[in-house]
Amino acid sequence: MLKEKIESLKKQFLEEVGKITPSEERLFELEKKYLGRKSEFIGILKNLKNLTPEERKQIGELANRTKDEIMEIISGKKKELEAGSIDFEKEKIDVTIPGKRKGVGHLNPISLVQMEIEDIFTSMGFEIADGPEVENEHYNFDVLNVPKDHPARDMQDTFWLKDISNKEKLVLRTHTSNVQVRYMEKHKPPFKIIIPGKVFRHEATDPRHEHTFYQFEALVVGKKISAANFKYIAKTFFERFFEKEMNVRLRPSFFPFTEPSFEFDITCNICNGKGCPTCSHSGWQEIGGAGMVNQKVFEAAGYKNGEYQGFAWGFGMERLAMLKYKIDDARLFHGGDLRFTKQF
Ligand code: PHE
Repeated sequence: MLKEKIESLKKQFLEEVGKITPSEERLFELEKKYLGRKSEFIGILKNLKNLTPEERKQIGELANRTKDEIMEIISGKKKELEAGSIDFEKEKIDVTIPGKRKGVGHLNPISLVQMEIEDIFTSMGFEIADGPEVENEHYNFDVLNVPKDHPARDMQDTFWLKDISNKEKLVLRTHTSNVQVRYMEKHKPPFKIIIPGKVFRHEATDPRHEHTFYQFEALVVGKKISAANFKYIAKTFFERFFEKEMNVRLRPSFFPFTEPSFEFDITCNICNGKGCPTCSHSGWQEIGGAGMVNQKVFEAAGYKNGEYQGFAWGFGMERLAMLKYKIDDARLFHGGDLRFTKQF
């Protein structure tokens, strides 16, 4: 009885679905009529529980299969309908229209230089260390053996921050050397690190100076590190950075945190050492400060006096970018002029 009923419902459905012109509403009506909550068909499924186990199995299977078939036909029709509703004329794409050019961002040359420095040094086994830009007097000056009355602490060079805690005096770090002792307090030699970062000086801005600029520090410490190691690492770095032969020249200088201290120069990359207006016909470019780490700095970090040796240097990244990309005004880097940045 039930079996026949199901089969006739199916037949009825197939006839009906064959006749209609499918539209969303008609399909919805059909679905409701044959599979809706109040449909005869669902009624049969609901009443399965009143049948004998034998019948329940047989009828249940047939009813479920038929239900799936009906469902499938309806969704097939729905899909056809959807496909048919695409207005190809409207959706047509003219592939011959020239594309809109999307603007691609550019990296500031300082970022390019920093990335390259990091690549070269990490390939030589250096780690990259980091530290705060807002620093206390302790790490920026005291532990670096900068005398209390040193002119560098003066209002002329240092941005002092308003004292809010009454505990420590804060500054915008004047160099990346502030990270030296911070790092050494947490690490035991041997190690080799670079510290790239932003530094600040209370200075008038001119073509060679900015109040905010980037430095990168190098610090190499071990039992037997010498100035020869420094010279070799520096030469290797500059040759890779400028992709040509470079010489490094040291001149005696003074920094409280290194002893002995040097200023150091590299071959002028504009004239390759022959002499030109950029290097004042000397064939050399002044690059930065360096030296052998003063034992007082090691002591401040908690190392025993005489146990280790090391070298440190600090350069301005702007200076390197100017030489590499032949830029003649340091103010361009942070000026925000896109005509400048777009060239990189
Ligand atoms: N910190 C020094 C400066 O900013 C540079 C320097 C670093 C010199 C490390 C020697 C050793 O001028």
